[in-house]
Amino acid sequence: MTAPLQNDTFLRALLKQPVEYTPIWMMRQAGRYLPEYKATREFAGNFLELCYSIDLATEVTLQPIDRYNLDAAILFSDILTVPDAMGLGLHFVAGEGPKFERPLQHEADIDLLTVPDMEKLRYVFDAVASIRKAIDGRVPLIGFSGSPFTLACYMIEGGGSKDWRTVKTMLYSRPDLLHKILHINAQTVTEYLNTQIACGAQAVQIFDTWGGVLSHAAFQEFSLSYIKQIISGLKREHEGRRVPVIVFTKGGGQWLELLADTGADALGLDWTTDIAQARARVGDKVALQGNMDPFALFGTHKSICAEVARILKGYGQGSGHVFNLGHGINQFTDPENVEIFVEAVHDLSRPYHQ
Ligand code: CP3
Repeated sequence: MTAPLQNDTFLRALLKQPVEYTPIWMMRQAGRYLPEYKATREFAGNFLELCYSIDLATEVTLQPIDRYNLDAAILFSDILTVPDAMGLGLHFVAGEGPKFERPLQHEADIDLLTVPDMEKLRYVFDAVASIRKAIDGRVPLIGFSGSPFTLACYMIEGGGSKDWRTVKTMLYSRPDLLHKILHINAQTVTEYLNTQIACGAQAVQIFDTWGGVLSHAAFQEFSLSYIKQIISGLKREHEGRRVPVIVFTKGGGQWLELLADTGADALGLDWTTDIAQARARVGDKVALQGNMDPFALFGTHKSICAEVARILKGYGQGSGHVFNLGHGINQFTDPENVEIFVEAVHDLSRPYHQ
């Protein structure tokens, strides 16, 4: 028996149901800005071992929940566990980020790509179940995946990139090959998210981190259409509750109307979009999540509160806003400023929900 949910503010806000205050969580909330995270990672040996260990992944997921009044927990894992399960050979090079030993650059390799056996990702699903048990109903648990295009970026390039030249070369010269990868990624992500939901994820977020590097036309053909396909295949109800879907396209502020038509319940906004204008554009279709610049946390206590107040005022009266940063929290953020930030969101948002 899972414990009843004591704080469902986050799930209610995603569905635009009445709330008493604006809920908040932070992308990368379990991460290197927390000394306790660094200690656990050191104990694990490296980041991937932390992801593979059910007990340690559970432990670090709860660290920010124990420290702050956050309204949701996010599964500790990485989007790149999926191409890892596809056999591309993931490792993390200190200071350089993720690398794949066998990137997909030749047609023969792409021909061999298939939807992986979900058993290879069992450790992720077991972590979901373990975290749900450990949270004990305090807050909901968010599951996640990369978007098909964002996963393809790393799978083709073999690591991060400033301009994604290899990916874009394929996009313009052999779009059929890119579509083949995206098709398999979309099927895989659908199964991956549905299994996370079955194991206890109470909301899911699709991270389309690199959709924003595409042209207007390419975004629709190579990212949006596959996100839509995933959402239409997701199980939207579990344990008698709706499982909301959040889509976050970084740099996607110009495509909000298109993103609102994917069937998502909520859209993530990066810090470059004005939240008041975003709300006016999407209307009642979706809730919004965001969108403070992560570097606003490098200001003073006073400037952090002012920035929170500005964003809350921008969204305005009523439910449908989940506070978040516009991208992941930076590793050099002062943990004390996060405390100020979370409390400010809770305190300053109450008048908007009366
Ligand atoms: O948000 C959370 O707290 C949940 C855990 C989570 C991580 N990565 C942990 C992580 C989530 C949701 C992600 C998603 C992810 N991973 C994305 C999409 C979101 C985004 O940030 O744009 C992407 C593109 C990745 C791929 C990835 N993982 C990169 C490029 C890197 C290296 C860059 C960096 O920030 O170090 C990672 C490593 C990573 N993933 C860390 C964490 C906590 C840092 C690793 C460490 O401990 O050394």
